[in-house]
Amino acid sequence: MSNTVESDDSFMLAERYSAMTRILTVNAAAPEQQVIHIAANVLKTGGLVAFPTETVYGLGANALDAKAVDHIFSAKGRPASDPIIVHLQDVSQLSQVARDVPAIAYRLVQQFWPGPLTLVLRRHSAVPANVSAGLHTVAVRVPSHPVARALLRAADLPIAAPSANRFARPSATSAQHVVEDLLGHVDIILDGGPTNIGLESTILDLTKPVPVVLRPGGITLETLRSVIPDIQVVMKQLQPEDEGIEAPGMLLKHYSPRAELLLFDGSLNIVLRIMQSRARELLATGRRVGVLTPDGERYFFDGIPVELFLLGSDLETIARNLFDGMRELDHHDVDVILVHNFEQSGLGLALRDRLLRAAEGRVIQC
Ligand code: TXA
Ligand code: MG
Repeated sequence: MSNTVESDDSFMLAERYSAMTRILTVNAAAPEQQVIHIAANVLKTGGLVAFPTETVYGLGANALDAKAVDHIFSAKGRPASDPIIVHLQDVSQLSQVARDVPAIAYRLVQQFWPGPLTLVLRRHSAVPANVSAGLHTVAVRVPSHPVARALLRAADLPIAAPSANRFARPSATSAQHVVEDLLGHVDIILDGGPTNIGLESTILDLTKPVPVVLRPGGITLETLRSVIPDIQVVMKQLQPEDEGIEAPGMLLKHYSPRAELLLFDGSLNIVLRIMQSRARELLATGRRVGVLTPDGERYFFDGIPVELFLLGSDLETIARNLFDGMRELDHHDVDVILVHNFEQSGLGLALRDRLLRAAEGRVIQC
């Protein structure tokens, strides 16, 4: 299968996985054991369970059951060339799914697990090839969300789980988002409320001579570099024409709202002025315009009849709200979404990555 992105449905393996979806509310801080057990049994018998993690909701299946993993791909409409992250209860399970684990991995997980750090390691033969899209590596993490942890403990299995959205759509940060994308295509949705970080985990490849960040995420590069100073960042997947894609599936079209997203980059004052005039031009042509904006900049759009979604003030809050904002503006049937870029430090790096992909290359340098 080629790595080029075509229409969403061109990748469907066969029939879309279908199920009578049960939505079960669960206490995010202290998950009810009887609810967790229902979900764990579904996983043990080859079904699909959507569950909250501290980053985004995951669409989980038994990682050791190739058929259950196939159902993840068909439920999401995800290309089989896009590998899936395996979630573990704790570091002691690592040797069940990975081999030749380097010492540096143990140093990292001591600091960052449970939490939003995914490590790419050599794949153990017990992990079916489809989990990793045929690669000899496997991506693993131990999530910190109490519901995810309770589910992993009760199922006592490694759980393969991509984000619980339709392929190329914004990741799901609430059970409502999962319902929008996967109702009828997942056996259980555990509703534990909105997720905390709102962006996916940081992916670090430890199979290269130097550790390489393949996707910036919930753990910042600065934090990782405080433990391993010589970490590299390779996000060349952002160029769709690039040869030798390192993380298949990290293609340009990703995290996309239905509306066309325009990303403005440059110095803030100029950016805001150009966003204002672009909003007016678009409105003049009869298009419905949405704007994703930090709270402090809302007054720039006073008197302009755009649909505003306020992201919050600090990067943590903006990260938590970003995907919800994209989906919310889609609900308002906007044709175009305007948003500006963020700084290259801290969570800003992950925000930039998600926005660039959501814009599918439509970046306006100001
Ligand atoms: O926070 C997260 O990471 C969430 C939650 C549910 O854990 N999961 C998530 O999964 O974002 P997903 O499938 O949406 O993104 C995982 C990405 C893949 O697209 C792929 O690029 C990369 O992880 N990946 C997975 N396995 C890999 C491997 N063996 N080598 C390189 N990249 C891999
Ligand atoms: Mg995803």
